[in-house]
Amino acid sequence: MTTNRVLDVRGLHVSFRTQDGVVQAVRGVDLHVLRGETLGIVGESGSGKSVTQMAIMGLLPDTAEIRADAIHLDGNDLLAHDAEALRKLRGSHMSMIFQDPMTSLNPFLTLGTQIAEMLRLHRGLRGRALREAVVHALAEVQIPKPALRAEQYPHEFSGGMRQRAMIAMMLAGRPKLLIADEPTTALDVTVQAQILELLAVLQRERGTSIVLITHDLGVVAGSAQRVAVMYSGRVVEEATTEALFAHPSHPYTRGLLASIPRLDHDEGALQPIPGSPPDLEALPAGCPFRPRCSHAVPRCSEEEPALRSLPGHEAGHRAACWVDLDALSVSAVGESRAQP
Ligand SMILES: Nc1ncnc2c1ncn2[C@@H]1O[C@H](COP(=O)(O)OP(=O)(O)OP(=O)(O)O)[C@@H](O)[C@H]1O
Ligand SMILES: [Mg+2]
Repeated sequence: MTTNRVLDVRGLHVSFRTQDGVVQAVRGVDLHVLRGETLGIVGESGSGKSVTQMAIMGLLPDTAEIRADAIHLDGNDLLAHDAEALRKLRGSHMSMIFQDPMTSLNPFLTLGTQIAEMLRLHRGLRGRALREAVVHALAEVQIPKPALRAEQYPHEFSGGMRQRAMIAMMLAGRPKLLIADEPTTALDVTVQAQILELLAVLQRERGTSIVLITHDLGVVAGSAQRVAVMYSGRVVEEATTEALFAHPSHPYTRGLLASIPRLDHDEGALQPIPGSPPDLEALPAGCPFRPRCSHAVPRCSEEEPALRSLPGHEAGHRAACWVDLDALSVSAVGESRAQP
């Protein structure tokens, strides 16, 4: 088995039944997370980043239909377990943090009580050991006066401190995998940097793997070792962060990188990607990015490209595009377009 992978997902599909029809939110996602790494997931709003992770966590409502070829969590085949066993497996191996800590924190219980509950559940601590572990958990996320803070309620914390408290709670069970969905988006830049640094430190100390969902490519550059770029329910490019920034391959990724504001350009140089993402209830035939793509060839309207390795790129760099943009830029356009 591929034991260096803490999470390995193949062919994940998620659709929602709604009043207007079926929304195909996730359409065949392959994704893996290596031990101890941070995988960044980027993509426009609605591209399926959250739904993908919520499906893996088992947090989607009943209106979601989930199919997958394989989901392995720390070597366990999630598809082979019943609901109760699944809940236990997930609970002990992974946890998720959100943009708004109040989605996870109970406003009516002190932080100490909530962290204690996690420690009891996942690590079987009791009595004095439990009380000490609560204070230790808060100290670990650099909350000052942790013993005092343990007695306080969530509303007594600032936004950044509340986010730290949630991280403490979610890491209390020592999960192998932490899924962080836009954990810093609502925070100001300084606090955001502190939280990201905290996650990096905890990761180094414990070897926790992290999936970091973000709109912010700057966050990816600073925090993730690998990146998956999502577009309309699929992963369209996957690479190490270094390779993605140095040699982006998919036209959508190139567009995302070109649209980052830069200090050395004036605002006129910003290049937002023209158009908007497709309607997930009525996807176009072929590649969903085609209507916005300036490199499209006839095949792009007929067949949706699968994620495939890129010759001449670093191993593991994959993209879902029929057009070889690297070849386009170095050789005659007509020749390279003929290749599938
Ligand atoms: N419970 C639901 N019922 C119906 N459709 C849903 C539901 N949850 C999500 N969707 C749809 O699934 C698609 C993917 O949503 P998702 O939340 O994964 O996007 P996202 O990439 O996380 O976007 P954002 O960056 O805005 O958080 C969207 O079109 C969304 O409207
Ligand atoms: Mg989301």
